[in-house]
Amino acid sequence: MEHGTCIGIFDSGYGGLTILDGIRQRMPEYDYIYLGDNARAPYGTRSFDVVYEFTLQAVKKLFEMGCPLVILGCNTASAKALRSIQQKYLPTAAPDRRVLGVIRPTAEVVGELSHTKHIGVLATEGTIKSQSYNLEIEKLYPDCTVVGQACPMWVPLVENNEFDKPGADYFVKDSLQKLLDQDPLIDTIILGCTHFPLLLDKINQQLSTLTSQQSCPSPLAPCPIKIIPQGQYIATSLEDYLRRHPEMDQRLTRGGTCQYLTTESATKFRESASLFLNEDVEVEHITLN
Ligand code: DGL
Repeated sequence: MEHGTCIGIFDSGYGGLTILDGIRQRMPEYDYIYLGDNARAPYGTRSFDVVYEFTLQAVKKLFEMGCPLVILGCNTASAKALRSIQQKYLPTAAPDRRVLGVIRPTAEVVGELSHTKHIGVLATEGTIKSQSYNLEIEKLYPDCTVVGQACPMWVPLVENNEFDKPGADYFVKDSLQKLLDQDPLIDTIILGCTHFPLLLDKINQQLSTLTSQQSCPSPLAPCPIKIIPQGQYIATSLEDYLRRHPEMDQRLTRGGTCQYLTTESATKFRESASLFLNEDVEVEHITLN
């Protein structure tokens, strides 16, 4: 497919498609390239060094393909690789390119959405251990308390197409219970992993069961608890970024196209991507090194 000067969106696998979807709904006119490193997913349990190395390879690939702007549509990569790419790699290797993440834009809105100022984060083990959400939110909103819960089974449930099956209920309930046990005043929960919006129905079902069993833990914690998937907030933040950076915006072409790349089999990606996007897409296999 012919492509223009695109916005690149990277994820370890399929999860970033929820970010792409949010962005394309708001800004359909731009050209996009989505790159999923499906062959090496999940990233959630990998070390900082490995996530940095893999993410940098993907960013370089998207740069080579002509993207002046890359969004790390993956919380794990944003938590573990973004800062190093911005501070160590870009200034010398690609000073006219930009790489943005998904954690800061989510942190910017969440403090306004919580009444109790008690916020929960559900994410991969890597994102939770990095404490990135706690640090960003508490810097922007010092009156907020943030607790995180790793959900190691949730990405495999999505990647293996088990997210809407009865077996998922146990794991969704277990992680939610552990999060609420840490802080019963939570009234806002960030889905800090781009795969998790596919579990939204299960999350809402299990949350309503858990909160009705406990009744509202405090008059300060209104039921139902708000769940924050990220796509729409990343889209608003990107739109704002492009408004503030017309020099970048002018470099981007507007053909309304989207090209999909995967490090796994193109057939497998096409099948699974349709669950996220509700449409059939053309996919190309690539290698990263
Ligand atoms: N989708 C990625 C995220 O947002 C995690 C998936 C993975 O573990 O690779 O964190």
